[in-house]
Amino acid sequence: MTIISGDINKAVDILNDEDIIAIPTETVYGLAGNIYSEKAIRRIFEVKERPLYNPLIVHLHSIIQLDGIVSEIPPAAQLLADAFWPGSLTLILKKKSVIPDIITAGKDTVGVRIPNHPVALSLLRQLEFPLAAPSANPFNRISPTKSSHVENYFKDSIKMVLEGGECKNGLESTIIGFDDEEPVLLRLGSISIEEIESIVGKIKINNKAETAPDAPGMLAKHYSPQTKMYLVDDVAQVLDEHKNKKIGLLTFTDTEVDYTIAHIEVLSESGDLKEAASKLYNTLHKLDAIDLDVIIAQRLPDIGLGKSINDRLERAAK
Ligand code: TXA
Ligand code: MG
Repeated sequence: MTIISGDINKAVDILNDEDIIAIPTETVYGLAGNIYSEKAIRRIFEVKERPLYNPLIVHLHSIIQLDGIVSEIPPAAQLLADAFWPGSLTLILKKKSVIPDIITAGKDTVGVRIPNHPVALSLLRQLEFPLAAPSANPFNRISPTKSSHVENYFKDSIKMVLEGGECKNGLESTIIGFDDEEPVLLRLGSISIEEIESIVGKIKINNKAETAPDAPGMLAKHYSPQTKMYLVDDVAQVLDEHKNKKIGLLTFTDTEVDYTIAHIEVLSESGDLKEAASKLYNTLHKLDAIDLDVIIAQRLPDIGLGKSINDRLERAAK
């Protein structure tokens, strides 16, 4: 039985015992273990069914810890850390040898972030080690933004989900790597490109599965519901092609559709991209649970967080 509880002391005990738990963050729930315990880290890969070539993000409570684990901090990385930490930004930096190879999949870099969630921060402060935490979903499935999503996925295979409420941002962190000290965007996420560029100027973008060997987790198919899904610009036209099917429709704002649809979900009545991002995964979990023949999702405007949401919808619909 998985315990779902806000008991941080219990969480500390389980982690000190080299076991793993799910933790809340402001992006998505993570499956967390002691970065220095090979037993715990192997268990994360096993429970998630994640291939060992896909490295994990290390979670810190304070920027003071950074010096102990990375060997170089490019000036742009310092600016971004100052601007966004604690927050939904992961920096890929040259690692020190204390970071075990299994965390980084043998790479000489490590992904780090300071989550902006009171429960996660309080937990991290009570531990003598940082936590490695990938999103708490089985490989390729929809990421969890509520404790119940994690429970549904992992039932008896983890001892505890540390309750932290619904994830406020609802999309994974934005990942920035460095090429000769120049920032490169490796994963779109909760912080928009525009926000990143307001701090460090125009940046390179390299987040496509085919061209981004530096981000091994950026698979073309990812974040996927079990139900067949399509991502389209013009909902009305596609609805016609799926007559007689049980359809779930995922739209950004209210859309007028002349069709009897099985189920409609609107991400933000008022057209607020931040609200849409925070609701995206929960809405996909809901649609996936109601036995539809097909999910049809409408592409969002390609600006700000709309880009990050479209990125997830594209991978979900592959
Ligand atoms: O918001 C988040 O980042 C969440 C929460 C739990 O913090 N975590 C998360 O972890 O999304 P995960 O494992 O689902 O995605 C981490 C991504 C993967 O695509 C992985 O390949 C990439 O980060 N990554 C990690 N370390 C890396 C490294 N050294 N070089 C390049 N990519 C790296
Ligand atoms: Mg993930």
